[in-house]
Amino acid sequence: MQILVTGGAGFIGSNFVRTVLDAHKDVHVVNLDKLTYAGNLDSLVDVSADERYTFVRGDIADREGVDRLFTEQKIDGVINFAAESHVDRSILEPDVFVTTNVLGTQNLLSLAREHNVERFVQVSTDEVYGSLGPEGQFREDTPLAPNSPYSAAKASADLLCRAWFKTFNFPVIVTRCSNNYGPYQFPEKLIPLMVINALEDKPLPVYGDGKNVRDWLFAVDHCLAIDLIYREGKPGEVYNIGGDCERQNIDIVKQILTILDRPERLIQFVKDRPGHDRRYAMDTTKLKTELHWAPTVDFEEGLRRTVQWYLDNEDWWRKVMTGEYAEMYDRIYGSK
Ligand code: NAD
Ligand code: TYD
Repeated sequence: MQILVTGGAGFIGSNFVRTVLDAHKDVHVVNLDKLTYAGNLDSLVDVSADERYTFVRGDIADREGVDRLFTEQKIDGVINFAAESHVDRSILEPDVFVTTNVLGTQNLLSLAREHNVERFVQVSTDEVYGSLGPEGQFREDTPLAPNSPYSAAKASADLLCRAWFKTFNFPVIVTRCSNNYGPYQFPEKLIPLMVINALEDKPLPVYGDGKNVRDWLFAVDHCLAIDLIYREGKPGEVYNIGGDCERQNIDIVKQILTILDRPERLIQFVKDRPGHDRRYAMDTTKLKTELHWAPTVDFEEGLRRTVQWYLDNEDWWRKVMTGEYAEMYDRIYGSK
């Protein structure tokens, strides 16, 4: 079986490529990635020589390029991770979020259908549901109410997937996962950013009152869920994925400082993110009861492992924190 993984050089995609090659000896992976600022082949050095792995540099929104790939390679299934993924960037530069996350997904769906691909998993996010108050959880039938350009573009892609199933009977499954953390995450997201700033004795910028709540899942557990859903999920369905692990941002930041033995005075409360969703929480009953999935790594253990990975892999993160990183850092935090 040959699967096309898009965005496989990103955080979750690279964890997925490694997980799936490890788990299934009969699987070949073609990784299509544009290598944006977030794509990094250093995250895949350990699999790059594997004969069951092929890398293709390309854009999911490029019709000719993707058509050529489907013509040259027999692709049985697609798992679409490729996306612009950072909410703060989507506030500053929304256009590319629509191009990649919406038009790119539409392009992939169209070409996958033309080339008779048998299965398509769209990797989506809990953020499409919007924001919760202090109570309740998102279910698969919760109405979509995205609040950021990022989540609006992801929700648009989810709706295109729905249409491809309803109109063309194309076998698409949508997965919606909560916040991921773990090795290889780009240091623009909460956990790696705080770890690296703490290591460098820089201020830790906490938005608003720090009491926004996210549900956290170790990335490999997300990957195992996607692999299971790819194999056993029902076409046309949506599956929530989550860690049953709600945490306030401020508590995570303090926990990181404790692990690293750094002082809390590094915490700096800064201006809130516009449209900042207050709370996410996932009801994952469907995935647990129908497909018997459960997370394997608890948050305290996963956070320790993640912090240790950044301590052990300074070369990896120093290399991605280039000029572009510094410029975007100033644009995001300079105004706060
Ligand atoms: P990431 O930003 O780390 O990686 C995105 C990857 O996509 C990069 O390798 C990038 O080069 C590639 N890419 C971007 N535009 C592309 C294009 N036009 N064509 C081909 N490749 C392109 O993102 P991530 O955190 O690994 O997220 C992966 C997916 O999972 C995304 O679809 C995201 O919406 C979803 N997701 C992420 C989280 C999370 O917490 N990070 C949670 C739920 C869902
Ligand atoms: P992030 O990692 O950007 O993921 P998302 O916005 O997709 O949930 O942010 C996680 C939470 O952390 C979110 O509530 C915003 C907050 N946050 C900060 O307080 N400071 C920061 O510097 C960043 C990047 C995020």
